Amino acid sequence: MTSGSARSFDRQWAELAQIGRHAQTGGYRRYALTREDHELREWFAGEASSRGLDLTLDRMGNQWAWWGDPDSTPGVVAGSHLDSVPDGGAYDGPLGVVSAFAALDRLRNSGFRPQRPLGIVNFADEEGARFGVACAGSRVITGALAPERALGLRDGDGVSMADALRSAGREPELIGPDPEALRRVGAFVELHVEQGRGLIDLDQPVALGTDIWPHGRWRLTFPGEANHAGTTRLDDRRDAMIGLASTILAARSAATTQGCVATIGKTVITPGGVNAIPSAATGWLDARGADEASLRRTVDEVTAAAADWGATVTEESWTATTRFDLDLLARLRRVLPAAPLLGTGAGHDAGILAGTGIPTGMIFVRNPTGISHSPAEHAERVDCLAGVDALTAALTELVGPETAGERP
Ligand code: HGY
Ligand code: MN
Ligand code: MN
Repeated sequence: MTSGSARSFDRQWAELAQIGRHAQTGGYRRYALTREDHELREWFAGEASSRGLDLTLDRMGNQWAWWGDPDSTPGVVAGSHLDSVPDGGAYDGPLGVVSAFAALDRLRNSGFRPQRPLGIVNFADEEGARFGVACAGSRVITGALAPERALGLRDGDGVSMADALRSAGREPELIGPDPEALRRVGAFVELHVEQGRGLIDLDQPVALGTDIWPHGRWRLTFPGEANHAGTTRLDDRRDAMIGLASTILAARSAATTQGCVATIGKTVITPGGVNAIPSAATGWLDARGADEASLRRTVDEVTAAAADWGATVTEESWTATTRFDLDLLARLRRVLPAAPLLGTGAGHDAGILAGTGIPTGMIFVRNPTGISHSPAEHAERVDCLAGVDALTAALTELVGPETAGERP
């Protein structure tokens, strides 16, 4: 990789490193429509303008930086997201955006002239950390998330997305499906840090994505009766926490039986006093599996367990199995013959776009810890630069003269 684009990668990485980083945990707290999000979007706009790229916003505020006019002919897009889960790692999302700019720099430094527009995207609110629905930015523009539902989503403080948009100087009325933005995308290649151990075990720096497991999020709310933790006899207690706790164990048991994965990583306990018996306990189930039937069985078992405690269960998001475009994958394999193929249990905007028929692919970069959604998430610089090399090769192939593997 030429030193120019390595320097570009290093500079970008250093600039992003401090935005939204929590001093104590070292994790990132980059949530949609917050000050940190604004800083990140300003950074993205600055990277686009410093390269003379045309920056456009779609109806959900996703940022698109274009080299060439995507209204002349659909372009090829790279990029990812910049937001994080609570105390997330540095690489999940930003690695894809930074690598896209570094790859574009590499192409330009080499005198490359694309035969079609080349875009870089920053998808808004991919993690759904604040408002609860993952890939909200790509789901709204593709119609997978209705704008009225999105605007009504509330964060932990009860702030609606609509009010958060207004506070960020945006007009909630404008959000909605954006076929025009999607028409500009002839193909999308998302580079992303791997969020498991695949590349460690394969001992390779990069892999090509084949599919994304089906996955979803369900809200489980258990009823109870507020009372005194010290004076209420055990027989008189209606402790909402007991049902939640029992169902958390049932989720692990069901996932084990069905060969899936499940966790309840977020809870809200009301009133949340140490000496007050909970009157309500809500937990959010994240469940995923290699196939939809076993995943549905897992969720059915958890739902039955929750119902035994009088809980209500609401599906908040569902993403069917994603298989990346085979023609596009064949083209990527031709230019990256050493890269192994890898499926993933992690959701991505690439999966949402693939669901609309846009030819989509992914490039994964080795994570030597195998850990993600944690400050421990990591990628060695040498592997990050290998990722930029791979993305550069992919983009060269896709915006070159012939461009099969994209929408007719
Ligand atoms: O949850 C996921 O798989 C992704 O990180 N949004
Ligand atoms: Mn993530
Ligand atoms: Mn991600």
